[in-house]
Amino acid sequence: MYQIVGKKVLAPGIKRFEVAAPLVARNAQAGQFIMLRLDEYGERIPLTIADLDPDQGTVTIIVQEIGKSTELLGRLEAGDFILDFVGPLGKPSHIKKFGRVVMIGGGVGIAPIHPIAREMKRAGNEVISVLGTRSRELLIMEEEMKLASTEVLITTDDGSYGRQGFVTDVLKDLIANRGPLDLVVAIGPMVMMEAVCRVTRGPGIPTVVSLNPIMVDGTGMCGACRVQVGSDTKFACVDGPEFDGHLVDW
Ligand code: FES
Repeated sequence: MYQIVGKKVLAPGIKRFEVAAPLVARNAQAGQFIMLRLDEYGERIPLTIADLDPDQGTVTIIVQEIGKSTELLGRLEAGDFILDFVGPLGKPSHIKKFGRVVMIGGGVGIAPIHPIAREMKRAGNEVISVLGTRSRELLIMEEEMKLASTEVLITTDDGSYGRQGFVTDVLKDLIANRGPLDLVVAIGPMVMMEAVCRVTRGPGIPTVVSLNPIMVDGTGMCGACRVQVGSDTKFACVDGPEFDGHLVDW
């Protein structure tokens, strides 16, 4: 059993949990995910890791309530227990000094972008983070992203905060005015990641996407996360979740 040691409501329907899971906290790396099950009747829920504290032995996950299981999870409070909390799963992000990297997080995709941005900055990169949400109230982890980045740029669809528009608008500006960009990492809704890849394909900017939104059970067994990458058929949960965005058959 794994105890929830902290809970915070970040935005409507979006909650942050810190879970005591010392082995996961010590072993996980940026880009990996965990799989949890609330109780013996519960379905498996794969969730990306938003933060880690190896000293405290805690793992931070951010949950958007989009179905029965995530709603049940959302009702738990600090002090409650989760039956299974398995990880780290998936392959870690490739971290090294690339130069100038752009980290794009859309919606709750900001959560998994966070540890990757932090490690990229630690590796000596200039990290420009672009965060996009529908409106200001849905923006999460702004302060954490500022610490993890050299610079943070914000867009909202409705213009209630930052620049009005989409992350791709900011990305096009960065390519035009701040190039060359050495790497783009994008995590968010599939349509957003595909749009980012369309923008970066022409100028040939290497682009990594994380296909965690299509995962269902996170174990390689359900087949839901099957994806064509170049000439290969891959499973996001086992072979990824990160892939070369220009090779993904969207
Ligand atoms: Fe089920 Fe990958 S999520 S096989």
